[in-house]
Formats: sequence, structure tokens, C-alpha cells
Amino acid sequence: MRRSRPLVFSKAVKIAPSILAADFANFGAECRAIEAEGADWVHVDVMDGHFVPNLTFGPGMCAALRPHIGGVMDVHLMISPVDAYLEAFAKAGADLLTAHLESGPHIHRTLQTIRGLGCKAGLAINPGTGIEVVPYLLDDIDIIVVMTVNPGFGGQRLIPSQMDKIRTLRAMVGDRPIHIEIDGGVTTDNARALVEAGADVLVAGSSIFKGGSAQNTAPYGVNIAALRAAAEGV
Ligand code: DX5
Ligand code: ZN
Repeated sequence: MRRSRPLVFSKAVKIAPSILAADFANFGAECRAIEAEGADWVHVDVMDGHFVPNLTFGPGMCAALRPHIGGVMDVHLMISPVDAYLEAFAKAGADLLTAHLESGPHIHRTLQTIRGLGCKAGLAINPGTGIEVVPYLLDDIDIIVVMTVNPGFGGQRLIPSQMDKIRTLRAMVGDRPIHIEIDGGVTTDNARALVEAGADVLVAGSSIFKGGSAQNTAPYGVNIAALRAAAEGV
């Protein structure tokens, strides 16, 4: 169905710029730019104007972006219902496909469908949602996305109460090869605390794209390097 793209599990810190903060008229160039400037993954935010109060784009845009992303395309679906669209996003070339715990009554089925389509399965959890169901899903997920803002918009501040949630999830995950990704309000000021709490993937939109453009990419490199250094505590 989709080409095989092995994603080898690693606990190393990964920086995943969110193209929600990129120039929407230049997505291809922006994806190439952030990868050239050191991004590990490219985080692609899909919004439906229903699950979240904002709209971005659908599988057609993801398919168009795919040739411009040499590495991992990390697709975050903020849509409900979600199941009917999974195949289209898999065919568009998503490596990781993340659905929200809150997106419908059958998240277990959704996660199994994602893996069945050949993608790594992600479970995103809103700030106001508890994590007591996660132990029942651990065999079916490759990545947990902790929303540290209410999804829908970039440029918000990280909600401090989510730090405890990250620590609890890290303990739940234990030695399993499951990534913990943080999405929303990630900056050089909080990156180290997030990694110490158990995160290994940091999504960042505004703090990566600030000051740069597809024609002036050096600031992206500076911002990615600064966030990585902060996260690694060097
Ligand atoms: C929010 C999105 C995030 C967002 C992060 O709904 O899922 O990926 O773009 O942006 P910043 O880093 O600006 O909070
Ligand atoms: Zn996101």
C-alpha cells in the first residue's frame, strides 16, 4: 500500500518542527529547509474545524508534502470522526499517524487500523483528559502525544499541570519502545524539564520558525540547535 520506511526506535531527543508555524504558501520549501537545518521529524498538523476550532488541510496536502520530506512525516490528526480518513493519510505517506483519544468511542480499533495500514500508531491526549485508559492500549501504540496546550493553535503557553502526566506516562511505558512526544508551547526554557520528565520527541512550531523563512533558513538551524542543546542539558 505504502512504501516501506523503517523507523528505528531510539530514545535520543528528537526535534519535530510543526509546519503549522511555517509559510503556508511555501510548505514544500519549508519542509526541505527545516530538514536541512537539523530537524529530526516533520510534524504535520491536520485540523478539521470540528474537533478543534481551526482548519488546516487534508490528505491531499500531506501527499503533496511527502516528496519534500526525506525523513519522518509525523501526522497529527485533530479530526473527528477519524477512522474514515486513516487510509487516505496512510496512502499520503505518513510514517506516524496519530489520532486523539477523544476523537471517538473506539480508539483501540483506530490504533489497530493505523498499524494495519503500515504506519506507526500514535495516541494524542488533550490537557484535560486523564490517562487511566493508557495501560489498556500500550500494546497498540508506538507513540503517545501529550498535548501541553489545548489543540487548535500554535503559539500558546505550555500548561504546567501536564508535567506530572508526562512523568506518569513514562512510568507506564517502562521499557517498551514507545515514544513520548510533547506538543504545544515547547521552548528552550522548558525543554530540559520535559525530557527529564520522560519525553523523547519535542514538537515546536513558533519557537523553531521564528526569525526565519524558506529564503532565510539559518534561523531555523539556530533555533533547532538551541532547542536540542537545551533539551539535552548541554
Ligand atoms: C497545536 C498543534 C501543535 C502546534 C505547536 O494544536 O498540535 O503542533 O503547532 O505549536 P507551538 O510550538 O507554537 O505551540
Ligand atoms: Zn501537533
